[in-house]
Amino acid sequence: MALRAFFVVCALFSIALAQSTQLQLEAIEAHFKNAELVPIPIPVFEPMAILAANFQGLGNISPGQLVSKDQVTNAPELTLTPVNSTVSFNGNYTVAMIDPAAVGTDQSKGQYRHWLVNGAKVTDNKLTFEGATTITQYAGPAPPADSGPHRYTVVVYTQGENFAPPQDLSGPVPGVEQFVFPDYVKNTNLGPLVAGIYYQVEEGTATASIPATSSVVSSTLPAAHLPSSGTSSVPWAKPSIALSCASQPF
Ligand SMILES: *[C@@H]1O[C@H](CO)[C@@H](O)[C@H](O)[C@H]1NC(C)=O
Ligand SMILES: *[C@@H]1O[C@H](CO)[C@@H](O)[C@H](O)[C@H]1NC(C)=O
Repeated sequence: MALRAFFVVCALFSIALAQSTQLQLEAIEAHFKNAELVPIPIPVFEPMAILAANFQGLGNISPGQLVSKDQVTNAPELTLTPVNSTVSFNGNYTVAMIDPAAVGTDQSKGQYRHWLVNGAKVTDNKLTFEGATTITQYAGPAPPADSGPHRYTVVVYTQGENFAPPQDLSGPVPGVEQFVFPDYVKNTNLGPLVAGIYYQVEEGTATASIPATSSVVSSTLPAAHLPSSGTSSVPWAKPSIALSCASQPF
């Protein structure tokens, strides 16, 4: 009896959790759109998973979170939560962090490459880098003073068999340099995109005016109106009770 109740609770919870993941997915899509990260530098942003970026001492960042550069000097731990049970991870992945600077910055010369790894793997939904090819090691933000809030964008792409890195980015290239990320994605046959998140760092105060971005109102997202979802705030952090149902296949 108690066991049955447990499974009923877990089943209901699985539904709630699936909806909350769907809501998170819609929220992150809205965040990327509002932050003007799509279609440049991210050509298509239709994630199939939620990307959690966990920085030591800071924890998981929320999308667009304004942080100090000292909080993000070391690479985060990356975890994927698939949007549904048909999404699973195997094979090779490319992880990148690019800086397209503040909203409204001319993107014709490209974006700053702060992290680029080919051949990453996903184990237990965590990105792992053993045996991967690190092109550019994670380099924390150092935005010029008074240049506005820079959008440090971390993305994970499927790296299929047709992946072909350009000669100048097929081995280690240390240091933060500009490159045209949309061209890189296209020319190397990367994709589809798995997930992404971004955070912001600002030094000083912007001298030029930075176009305002609208915030994401979660209650206006389609998944917020699914029956029984019943929450108005984005459940960005997964409900901890989910752990007790961990053996359920959701
Ligand atoms: C699961 O998610 C994938 C990726 O977003 C989507 O293509 C697929 O239709 C979804 N499947 C179900 C059963 O919802
Ligand atoms: C992953 O990349 C490695 C190194 O390029 C390659 O040998 C391997 O076949 C790839 N695996 C898959 C599943 O594509």
